[in-house]
Amino acid sequence: MRPYKCILAAIITLYLGLSASAQPRPPYQLPYRPQLHFTPKAHWINDPNGMVFYKGTYHLFFQYYPDGTVWGPMHWGHATSKDLVQWQEQPIALYPDSLGYIFSGSAVIDEQNTSGFGKPGNPAMVAIFTHHDPVEEKKGKGLHEYQSLAYSLDEGKTWTKYAGNPVIRNPGIPDFRDPKVMWHESSHRWIMTLATKDRITFYSSPNLKDWTRESEFGAAVGAHGGVWECPDLFTLEHEGNQKWVLIVNINPGGPNGGSATQYFVGGFDGHTFTADDQATRWLDYGPDEYAGITWSNTGKRRIFLGWMSNWDYADRVPTGTWRGAMTIPRELGLVRTGEGYRVISQPVAELMKSGRMLVRQRDIAKKDYQLVRPGILREPYALSVNSAGKQDFSIRLSNPAGEELLVGYDKKSNEYYIDRSRAGKSDFVKNFARRHVAPRMAQGGVINLTLVVDVASVELFADGGLTTMTSTFFPTSLLGQVQVSSPAPWKADIQVTGFKSIWK
Ligand code: FRU
Repeated sequence: MRPYKCILAAIITLYLGLSASAQPRPPYQLPYRPQLHFTPKAHWINDPNGMVFYKGTYHLFFQYYPDGTVWGPMHWGHATSKDLVQWQEQPIALYPDSLGYIFSGSAVIDEQNTSGFGKPGNPAMVAIFTHHDPVEEKKGKGLHEYQSLAYSLDEGKTWTKYAGNPVIRNPGIPDFRDPKVMWHESSHRWIMTLATKDRITFYSSPNLKDWTRESEFGAAVGAHGGVWECPDLFTLEHEGNQKWVLIVNINPGGPNGGSATQYFVGGFDGHTFTADDQATRWLDYGPDEYAGITWSNTGKRRIFLGWMSNWDYADRVPTGTWRGAMTIPRELGLVRTGEGYRVISQPVAELMKSGRMLVRQRDIAKKDYQLVRPGILREPYALSVNSAGKQDFSIRLSNPAGEELLVGYDKKSNEYYIDRSRAGKSDFVKNFARRHVAPRMAQGGVINLTLVVDVASVELFADGGLTTMTSTFFPTSLLGQVQVSSPAPWKADIQVTGFKSIWK
């Protein structure tokens, strides 16, 4: 090569090298970015809001702060999905206004045009949300939260706020928020389930605009370690018996610290909810499922989704340009146990069907068995275990950096556990590096368990979804090596299903 050509080549190589290293990584390939879970392209999210199914599309609105990576003046962000697996982020749906920030709430399709917002042949999608007035809040009178409406005639793309807002004024309760509205067929009117400090208040309305207070529930029932937020009320059936389920999120006071989702099973007569018993039950025992509620307008199916974080540390987790993720959508069901009805959760079938079976192993004779070797799993996966007997076992998920997550069953305490003590970065908050436990609720000897593992989370569904746990962690790369261990030879059927990243 002639000298001037050499110099030219060197300059070009240097330029290409520099420009490659200066290229920012695409947003969905950043460290800790979930590949199977919805996360915003950038900035802060918390609760799922206004989830409604309409014309073949699942709408997911969410608490969103588009100017930062910590909580701030709340908007409703928007994402859509045709299959509950792939998500497309949409433009912001609702912006703060003179009445305040747009806090959590729900959305319904007003098929009968009770509100008058619809047009012939085009029913309105109506959002019912809390306005949180930061100016009023500073006055300290506790009157700063009230309920309001907005509607959309183009499937959630553009929204008009109702000129008569607010539709429910604050009666003097500082925590007065998160309306979940449903159509109550037998009384032919709308029912609103509202979180009012340490209890639930029910309201009814013929038209979504005029609301009558019906009753209260819960001041002396369930968990009360924190404020009640984000409720939901719906029916589930078991062998032809219909029960009403009331979900109440609570922060703090969860079973593993911080925020969590509890539920009650009982009856609702259009006015009053009555729980079958006084006990506290958790829909998810893990530290990282909160503000979970269900989609409207899905017929008999009940599909649940939560925010995959915890108010104890949500604003400190080490993600860079975005903060917050949603759980995978879960189908809720009802089962009858010796002690009454229980709600079960399972990953939606759409998600499980989208995967490809990669590994299957029956019976483990060796104590530490390498089920999946390094390099095989590069993307999220589900691991299903069917254990023929109730014996201790542990599943070690790790990566080449030596970071590891331990998940298992402890026979002596009859508990499932997720130990994230050594699963990656944890110094952003005290006590993040911990082992969390959940009781085994099933009676039988056969244990089945499904783990859905993404880059920064695991969701555990045990015994058909009777015990559910969600945990986040922050490793340098996917924990894609799987080792299983049991003190004695283990009769089990173990399968690993791989998923493709939803962002590619
Ligand atoms: C729950 C919550 C709701 C409130 C929203 C504000 O996480 O505190 O009660 O509406 O977040 O972002």
